[in-house]
Amino acid sequence: MSKWTLGIIGGSGLYEIDGLEDRREETVETPWGAPSDALVHGRIGDVKLVFLPRHGRGHRLSPSEVPYQANIAALKMAGVTDVLAISACGSLQEAYAPGDFLAADQFIDRTFARAKTFFGEGMVAHVSMAHPVCSRFSAMAADVAEAVGARVHRGGTYIAMEGPQFSSLAESKLYRQWGCDVIGMTAMPEAKLAREAELPYAVLGMVTDYDCWREEEEAVTVTNVLEVMARNSALGRKAVVKLAENLSGTERTPSPDGIDTCLDYALITAEA
Ligand code: ADE
Repeated sequence: MSKWTLGIIGGSGLYEIDGLEDRREETVETPWGAPSDALVHGRIGDVKLVFLPRHGRGHRLSPSEVPYQANIAALKMAGVTDVLAISACGSLQEAYAPGDFLAADQFIDRTFARAKTFFGEGMVAHVSMAHPVCSRFSAMAADVAEAVGARVHRGGTYIAMEGPQFSSLAESKLYRQWGCDVIGMTAMPEAKLAREAELPYAVLGMVTDYDCWREEEEAVTVTNVLEVMARNSALGRKAVVKLAENLSGTERTPSPDGIDTCLDYALITAEA
């Protein structure tokens, strides 16, 4: 019977998982270098978890400095079957209030200073990113966030910006015109690399602010973000525990979206 091994990438405000049995830390190295920090392995029931704080403990790495390739490679090498990423984000729509969660299902990638592929150097692959998250795993993440008491929006477009500065007013208004729902600095290229690694990926955005487009609101600052995170990261941690509890004792089948085998159709380089 195939079991779940959940890779959890913790964003700002989520640096640990509660209630892990058999907890151990492992420092690893990948062909793409070292990940953001040591992996934390553990178990809830028969579900294994591998946790990685995206910015490192103590939040040492800026969004541009996060070693996205090494992070995804380290999770893949650890035997992870599915990746849940947690990402603090700003709201670009009235309806998404600070404190809400959003299981984003689309992305616009505006990052430009990050390595975005495992391929190149003689091996070319073009994976589909038409549907960047695993529909099954994203729905599960939304369900558990709701079950622990979060207000959850299912689906929505996350625009990933390079940062580290927040957006200008003109940019924030532009992204609203593009139909984006939330803005963050990290879910890309993470989602692209997860797809190349054939790892079903879902992201729970934790809305911390209204960015700067909303006139009646003060523009986003780190202080606002940290205040909301302090109130909300407990919900994120509870959601992860609930997800593992729900999956414990169940058999994992491949993602219904074909993500576990997506490279079958993506490699274009001729065999030598
Ligand atoms: N992370 C949290 N709030 C954000 C915002 N307004 N813009 C970009 N990243 C964010």
